[in-house]
Amino acid sequence: MTLSTKPLSGMRQRLPNEFNIEKYVTEILSLSSVQAGFQEYDGPVIEPLALFAAKSGGELVGRQSYCFTDRGKREVILRPEMTPSLARMVAAQGELQLPVRWFSMPLCYRYERPQRGRVREFLQFNLDILGSESLSAELEVIMVLQEIMNSFKAPSSIYKIGWSSRRFMSDALSRCGVHIEIAQEVFSAIDKRDKMTEEKWANFLLGVCKGDSVLTGKVVSLVSVESLSDPWLVSLMAESSAFEEVVKFNNLLLGLGITSAVFSPAIVRGLDYYTGIVFELMDTGGQNNRSLCGGGRYDNLVGLFGNKKISGVGFGLGVLTLTLFLETYGLIPNSVKKASPADVYVAVASKDAVISAGLLVTSLRSHGYRVMMDVSGKKLGKQYKEASRYGISYLITVDFEEIDTGKYKMKNLLDGSVFTGSLDDLIGRLE
Ligand code: HAM
Repeated sequence: MTLSTKPLSGMRQRLPNEFNIEKYVTEILSLSSVQAGFQEYDGPVIEPLALFAAKSGGELVGRQSYCFTDRGKREVILRPEMTPSLARMVAAQGELQLPVRWFSMPLCYRYERPQRGRVREFLQFNLDILGSESLSAELEVIMVLQEIMNSFKAPSSIYKIGWSSRRFMSDALSRCGVHIEIAQEVFSAIDKRDKMTEEKWANFLLGVCKGDSVLTGKVVSLVSVESLSDPWLVSLMAESSAFEEVVKFNNLLLGLGITSAVFSPAIVRGLDYYTGIVFELMDTGGQNNRSLCGGGRYDNLVGLFGNKKISGVGFGLGVLTLTLFLETYGLIPNSVKKASPADVYVAVASKDAVISAGLLVTSLRSHGYRVMMDVSGKKLGKQYKEASRYGISYLITVDFEEIDTGKYKMKNLLDGSVFTGSLDDLIGRLE
């Protein structure tokens, strides 16, 4: 039997070029977090199922999870996200000084249908603040998100941060006449709005609203509102503290000039634990139609561990989703896409030259240069071709003449010029 050369569907493997790109993306994400005073943490890949069953929501745990019984007969899950683990870690700290500002780059697992931007094993950058109830926390995480997009040189015309509030939407839906019993179903219908045509969605919503077309019409009007000063909305939400909070948050965003953040009442987020402001980062073009990032405020997660209430706010951002977005708009620099693995290639003319070549290589490496030595034993012409194929800038050949004289020829493969000198001269030249 021959084995397949493919990995399991949706599982990731990256060739060196892809790995380079991923590293470029994750390094910018980490750097932006560190610059904003966030500290890195990590948690276990395998977690108790109960941790996620409690709050993440039926769809994620019931239909998309990798769960199994381990050899100790424990029900466990490959983490589909990081937030419940983070909540547990913060709950366990006890005396930890709040608020904490933490970030992480976990591998997560979801049994989703593999498609553009959605796979079964993925890196998800997480950035959260726990222990602050102030809207400044929401503002801060959105500021970091904005800073990340700036670091990738993404102009604000190609993305938007759609935001709304769960608390506001609960109140608004109730004022529209949505009964508490169907509120959760209506939320989840709103979350599916972008996944269906307008007509199909309106029919779906009508079903959820038990055929009440007046109620359905009101919900459609609510999610279609584009401005917080919309007169219908203002009158619907008279004297609502949740609406006041949304208006206040909008003013904070305006004050900071974050024009990419747009009030979008249709954004309610699929996960059950959100309680306040929620947001998603979307591509405004047509090529990446799934969210790049999603997050918001969650008030009750840490309370699951018996602690007093600790409110959290943060977001998760898919590294693959973001990379596809950056590639769509040509925002991955060529220097990253075509990065060469070494600065210098040392070609070895014969077996007898291996020791001298090795000594030269060791010396160059000890001076901080990335040096690739031939290990193929092929003819020099083939070794030169290999150096060019890797895009390496400098080539040094070690043959008898070089061993005898201690002088080496170093060819600049980019412009063809040749420099001859001792090891010290070569190092001086490289510098
Ligand atoms: P989420 O919306 O489920 O939120 O995921 C956040 C992001 O992770 C998505 O916008 C997407 O970019 C990426 N992502 C999700 N599923 C996949 C997949 N199957 N393949 C590739 N990328 C994917 C959460 O997970 C929340 N825990 C985020 C959060 C942190 N909220 C507060 N703090």
